[in-house]
Amino acid sequence: MRTHPDYPNLFILDHPLIQHKLSHMRDKSRSTMGFRQLLREIALLMGYEITRDLKLTTERIETPLTVMDAPVIEGKKLAIVPILRAGLVMAEGLLELVPAAREGHIGLYRDHETKRPVEYLVKLPDPAGRIFILVDPMLATGYSAVHAVDVLNRHGVLDAQIRFMALVSAPEGVKVFHDAHPSVPVFTAALDSHLNENAYIVPGLGDAGDRLFGTK
Ligand code: URA
Repeated sequence: MRTHPDYPNLFILDHPLIQHKLSHMRDKSRSTMGFRQLLREIALLMGYEITRDLKLTTERIETPLTVMDAPVIEGKKLAIVPILRAGLVMAEGLLELVPAAREGHIGLYRDHETKRPVEYLVKLPDPAGRIFILVDPMLATGYSAVHAVDVLNRHGVLDAQIRFMALVSAPEGVKVFHDAHPSVPVFTAALDSHLNENAYIVPGLGDAGDRLFGTK
């Protein structure tokens, strides 16, 4: 995991397995099945890095031989919150890693006139004392990511409880996000070059939702 001099709170997960799998995803000839499977695998690997600093406490257990104070994760179960719809498959990967996590959902669509995100579905677990991992494969303009954190804030989740996880990020989106929520860390597998005129990330991987679900 490395940081970036221009973007405080951006963490680039440069593990070779993550980078290798991401390159396969970028390839436009990758099948829907392969694309989906790779995203699940990468999300699991990213989750492993993102949860590295979770606090531990101990719980008294009995092994077959003796009693011991064994390390267990402190506090409430994690909450995984995909931004619909492309975040769903990333959430599946994270849930393989942390099967007891709670799962919330934030559904956003883009208003044609304002070009800004509007929420159509919000379902969240009880926020008190819980860490929230918000997931969306593409941090492009940053507007959806900012809006999703605003939604979490409105439902009682503090910025200090939130970690944002994106597969691929654009510098424009990272800046917008950090201007709005400077203390929320962003974990990403790649910081790409720029956004094109249609707000697609370049080199990117195309429309993540369409490639995941086989739609147009
Ligand atoms: N959303 C996507 O799916 N792809 C991009 O490149 C940008 C936003």
